[in-house]
Amino acid sequence: MGRKFFIGGNWKCNGTTEEAKKIVGTLNEANVPGEDIVEVVVSPPFVFLSFVKALLHSNFHVAAQNCWVHKGGAYTGEVSAEMLVNLDIPWVILGPSERRLLLEESNEFVGDKVAYALSQGLKVIACIGETLEQREAGTTLAVVAEQTKAIAAKIPDWDNVVLAYEPIWAIGTGKAATPAQAQEVHADLRKWIHDNVSAEVAVTVRLIYGGSVNGTNSKELAAQPDIDGFLVGRASLKLEFVDIINAATVKKN
Ligand code: 13P
Repeated sequence: MGRKFFIGGNWKCNGTTEEAKKIVGTLNEANVPGEDIVEVVVSPPFVFLSFVKALLHSNFHVAAQNCWVHKGGAYTGEVSAEMLVNLDIPWVILGPSERRLLLEESNEFVGDKVAYALSQGLKVIACIGETLEQREAGTTLAVVAEQTKAIAAKIPDWDNVVLAYEPIWAIGTGKAATPAQAQEVHADLRKWIHDNVSAEVAVTVRLIYGGSVNGTNSKELAAQPDIDGFLVGRASLKLEFVDIINAATVKKN
């Protein structure tokens, strides 16, 4: 069985109730391929999660944007994996660059978070990616391999993990990786997984690309053999998210 195309819409810290309603309305009315072709998961801020989940058609799913690293308790401001499970939230995004850089989440901390979320039954979109300096120094693969290794070391299997390659220099800049650049890293990562995790996981795990994906570049990116979907930021708040979802059909040809 092939890897089903995966499209995540990461709203980050954006939106109002009205905007959330509008985005969901657009999605619900959109003419897009069914769940047999593409898995669509939108990730609003915590405060809108239940609201969005209730409004969304059942063929779309939701993800939280974070969860606490262990069992809940006296951690002011945090949201636990148990709470997400309790609310029937199936997915969580962990390790995005903003949290790695601004909140100094280490590779090990992200690995612990992924492991705990999986242990509670959540599915995880785990994010990795290099800075511009690291890319220019020729260390891209070393950086993403180290980030992936810290996750691999903590988890029993990859069944419920989607790995999102998000080069930091491409996030929010309007300057996406070229299809060739993204494909190169995805292929290298898949080979690293083959050599360091298993041949089976290398074939089955979905590697998605994030970083200035839009309605225009999504088709060519989707056509790359090792790109299994996208994690979309700004464009997931706009009408063009529908075009990005439709890029999944490229894989059928
Ligand atoms: P942009 O699509 O806004 O560049 O954001 C990418 C991203 O970080 C998604 O998680």
